[in-house]
Amino acid sequence: MRWWLRVAIPLIATAAIVAPLAWFWQASRVPDEFSVIDMGYPDYGGGPDSNHGDHAGGSHSSHRPAVSVVDLTADPERRADARFALVTRAATLNIGGRAMAGFTVNNTSPGPTLTVRQGQLIEVHVRNESVTAGVSMHWHGVNVPNAMDGAAGVTQNAIGVGQSFVYRFEVADAGSFWYHSHQVSNTQVLGGLFGALVVLPRRGPPAGNVDVTAVAHTYTGVRTINGVAADLPVAARPGQRVRLRVVNTDNAPMEIWSGAPYRVLAIDGSDIRGPTPVTGEATTLTAGGRADVEVRMPADGSAVRVQLSRATAVVLGAAGRDAPEPAQPAKPLDLLHYGTKAAIGLDPARAARRFEYVIGRVPGFVKGRPGLWWSVNGHLYPDVPMYIVRRGEIATMRIENRSGEVHPMHLHGHRAVVLSRNGIPATGSPWWVDSLNVLDKESYEIAFRADNPGIWMDHCHNLQHAAEGMTAHLMYEGVDTPYRIGGEVDNEPE
Ligand code: C2O
Ligand code: CU
Repeated sequence: MRWWLRVAIPLIATAAIVAPLAWFWQASRVPDEFSVIDMGYPDYGGGPDSNHGDHAGGSHSSHRPAVSVVDLTADPERRADARFALVTRAATLNIGGRAMAGFTVNNTSPGPTLTVRQGQLIEVHVRNESVTAGVSMHWHGVNVPNAMDGAAGVTQNAIGVGQSFVYRFEVADAGSFWYHSHQVSNTQVLGGLFGALVVLPRRGPPAGNVDVTAVAHTYTGVRTINGVAADLPVAARPGQRVRLRVVNTDNAPMEIWSGAPYRVLAIDGSDIRGPTPVTGEATTLTAGGRADVEVRMPADGSAVRVQLSRATAVVLGAAGRDAPEPAQPAKPLDLLHYGTKAAIGLDPARAARRFEYVIGRVPGFVKGRPGLWWSVNGHLYPDVPMYIVRRGEIATMRIENRSGEVHPMHLHGHRAVVLSRNGIPATGSPWWVDSLNVLDKESYEIAFRADNPGIWMDHCHNLQHAAEGMTAHLMYEGVDTPYRIGGEVDNEPE
């Protein structure tokens, strides 16, 4: 071989490998400041595309002036029915006798449970006293007007130290919800910046004699209920019905089962029709999801343990009473076939858009870092789909998981109904969700009505995964945002 060939061949070979890598690396880097509406590529789901290929609708769409997310608010003239003040702080938490760095809301973690009534307009004044990265507040599961969604860099700027933001929205649906920071949420939610939001029915008390909220969270490896690393005792008399609102604030799903038959009254704040008593089956509660379960206390006065995973339980009964830990059922309760069938109020056959959200795992670069990353429809963040809808449309979405891990998928601002799983149609009660546990190799079809204009995050609620790029958006045509990811405020919703 000639000497120059001996030099050139390895050089060319190296370049052949390095050049595309460099290109992918370059393409994966996100600018220091960008608008989410410039992210990725528009996905019209087979529906109308008034922009004829123009990028992502929104700000660039021609004829009508864009609506700003800033203006998508509750009626500014309407007086608030209930007011709350929340103060966020960076703090040292004491969890099970261990000191750990975290965050508080009104000096506790979880923050206070906000209890309101359906139909009320609520006003929450959030002041950030000492969280240096800034905070925001997202009302998980509540279909708030877009400007109140609390997604930093999408619907508002992060609230800096010393600053405030007032959230105003009507709570149209009764049920169990929660609030949490949506600025650097993978750190702030993990560290305790959240609380429960309970919306009581418009009139009268909710079904059940005892109503209790159990916020489950793992603080650096320590499992807790309502911030306490121990079982939660709840006083209940024989014959009483206890409604237990379980909120899963963790990144992983949890299992709920009980020593006595239980009924699942609601999932993600939506009632289940005709819930029957469950025995020998555990209910999977997805990350970010809520389950309202009901136990009727045995007549003989014995206590009942409701397990929230193996480590913690809610113990129902007379003070000081306990019960043996019930064995964990191997079988999961299948919500696809639980309860009685009823009309879902929308016709998926008339869907104007049919979206796909196929989750994979591929080698590549995300935010300039090499690794095995989550992909959406084969694309890596930030080159992910921007799902586009028009107000009033019905849309379906097929969520398929081929990534080897479970993903709790969460769409902001809407509730979606489960139509089928792995092609098997739902036969039980309408099963409405805002957080859906999608196991590896599973595929779900869901449907929703596009009735809440704005730009909405549609991401994995394993917030670590979201920070690794498992974040896409649903966007209404003609909506624009003045906010930016990154920038001087350093908005970072994930
Ligand atoms: Cu509970 Cu996008 O969040
Ligand atoms: Cu995930």
